[in-house]
Amino acid sequence: MPTDVSLAGSTRGPESLRPLLETALDALGKGAVERDGPLPAGGPRAVEELIGATGELLPEEGAGGGVALGALGHALTAGAADPADPRCAAHLHAPPLAAAVAAEVVAATVNSSLDSWDQGPSGTVLEDRVLRELAELAGYRPDVAAGQVTSGGTESNLTALLLAREQAGNPGPGGATLFCSTEAHFSVQRAAGILGLGEDAVIPVPVDDRHRMDAAALRDRVTASLARGETPVAIVATAGTTDLGAIDPLDDVADVAAETGTWLHVDAAYGGGALFSRRLAPLLRGLPRADSAGLDLHKLGWQPVAAGVLLTRTAELFEPVERRVAYLNTDDDERAGYRSLLGRSLRTTRRPDVFKIAVTLKAYGRAGLGRMVDRCHDLAGHAARQVRERPELELMQHPVLSTVVFRFTPDRGDADEVNAALRRALLHDGKAVVGRTEFGAVYLKLTLLNPNADERDIDLLLDDVVAAGKRETPTR
Ligand SMILES: Cc1ncc(COP(=O)(O)O)c(C=O)c1O
Repeated sequence: MPTDVSLAGSTRGPESLRPLLETALDALGKGAVERDGPLPAGGPRAVEELIGATGELLPEEGAGGGVALGALGHALTAGAADPADPRCAAHLHAPPLAAAVAAEVVAATVNSSLDSWDQGPSGTVLEDRVLRELAELAGYRPDVAAGQVTSGGTESNLTALLLAREQAGNPGPGGATLFCSTEAHFSVQRAAGILGLGEDAVIPVPVDDRHRMDAAALRDRVTASLARGETPVAIVATAGTTDLGAIDPLDDVADVAAETGTWLHVDAAYGGGALFSRRLAPLLRGLPRADSAGLDLHKLGWQPVAAGVLLTRTAELFEPVERRVAYLNTDDDERAGYRSLLGRSLRTTRRPDVFKIAVTLKAYGRAGLGRMVDRCHDLAGHAARQVRERPELELMQHPVLSTVVFRFTPDRGDADEVNAALRRALLHDGKAVVGRTEFGAVYLKLTLLNPNADERDIDLLLDDVVAAGKRETPTR
């Protein structure tokens, strides 16, 4: 038996935690100073060395909590890509709010699990209440809507499509079909595969010149599928595509879903955060007509991962995942008011990720979060204008939400190779984390999720991109 088994909870927990939290904060501070930028310089080898320097990870005798936390906390921070640095702007990888991170300490300490009432009484009530607020924000009727906190858009899409498949029933001899735009997230195809429908069951729908689903083409495809004797299981509209932030015409898509009796799921993993903004929320008009919608607050919501949310128009739509399990949620307990959330999720043990969301909603309110969304939207507009002003850069399209897709145009050499190389050079030098994507050619992407960044940060970042592009352009 080790002499020191310090537990985090109960009345003595805070005293055990206090010195460890001091150590953790020191490690975070020192690691960030040592990194001195958005990511460590030196590329993959430097990070291998940094982690390697922490020594043996499973020693025969342990080093103790303080030593382990200090050394590994320092290495993890020094070797991290830090989205709180304005030059770390590649992905939908948000800088988390301090209040939400502090909330994680509480949630982890209490360690509720939301599969049964007796593992998380307060978390169960809180999740219900937060989901009601978010359902109302999305335009659903909060008294009849339902939802669950998920690990993110991937799980939200999978769960929603499972619900849709169950509602559609056994497919006819033609098999099942699903529909999403050519720019929908790849997790839609994956979900179709996992659900046994096959990735090929997903019929891609072309997009218009602003990269939004073409609703007329959708109507043609769903109608043709019905005529072939297939069973359309779901239409997935995207509110905020991963690269361009394009928002499908939700009302028009909802018309097609209604006409053809097909489940409509809106993947608002990225764009869902726009609901906080009075300026941008109208872009999601039509969302309340969807049977289900997923939004990720670890994207435009400034939560530490994970903070996905899946909502359904009514609670009944969740019935296919409902289960009664003898050791978790018996009928008599449920009737007596000990209600569990097991039946809302594909997971059993489930952390109370809702807690940090609750703290954030209360701390900032809709208006506070809306201002943060607007700030990121403004920064994207500024970045787009700056791209247009620089002869070496070419903008793909004006930003919708907070991503800016563009590329460097070299005087000579292969543009794709130069763009790929300049991005890697910025990574290797520890200067910037810029995204990369493809639209027939290699493009660069800024995903601007840092409400504390300013215009000057963007200008300097673009200067660095241009300078790296020139360095990577072949001399002859
Ligand atoms: C539109 C969209 N849907 C789904 C996802 C998947 O979300 P997660 O990575 O949280 O599972 C993403 C991720 O970027 C996304 O952009």
